[in-house]
Amino acid sequence: MAELATIARPYAEALFKAVGAGDAAAVAQQVSALGAVAAHEQVRQFAVGKRRYEFMEGLIKALSPDEMVGVVLYYTQQPVRPQPVNDAALAARGKTYYDKICFRCHGEQGHGTEQYARIAGQQRDYLRISLKRYRDGKGPRIDPLMAANTRGMNDADIEAVVAYVSSMR
Ligand code: HEC
Repeated sequence: MAELATIARPYAEALFKAVGAGDAAAVAQQVSALGAVAAHEQVRQFAVGKRRYEFMEGLIKALSPDEMVGVVLYYTQQPVRPQPVNDAALAARGKTYYDKICFRCHGEQGHGTEQYARIAGQQRDYLRISLKRYRDGKGPRIDPLMAANTRGMNDADIEAVVAYVSSMR
């Protein structure tokens, strides 16, 4: 495991550079928050052309399966840094919403399972964009389960859930 992560380091660093040094921490955070299984699935989807984004596809298709696993391990070994709570009332509303709906798949702690992504401590922008995309049915990643579970959310619900989920450990 450690060896694979070492092999993957140059690829991971190339990815960091490619997205611009300023975003490197954000990328690491996104992938480490996601968890290894879900992250590997996303990488695999790029590799087989199921998820489309020209730049990522080119990069990922150049990896061997071992290197792909290594990149995922490298990123998922980075620590997840929960975001600070700026508005406690908003985060509390988000927790109420989360505990009613989202915990069923993503788990009480947001740590996910082999089937469902880990979302605890995820970047706010990433959460917001993902939730709106699932709700509005726009873009390449449309998921029927997430569509059904975000349909009833207004923008204020999304802001509350984002505040809570991004702060989960
Ligand atoms: C019935 C199960 C289910 C419920 C309930 C559910 N989700 Fe999901 N969620 C999924 C599945 C399946 C995916 C993966 C879809 C994909 O690959 O695009 C997902 C993906 C996500 C993602 C994107 C993960 C990533 O990093 O790409 C976020 C964020 C998310 N869910 C948040 C939520 C929130 C917040 C709620 C509550 C409002 C919720 N989910 C309720 C099943 C569920």
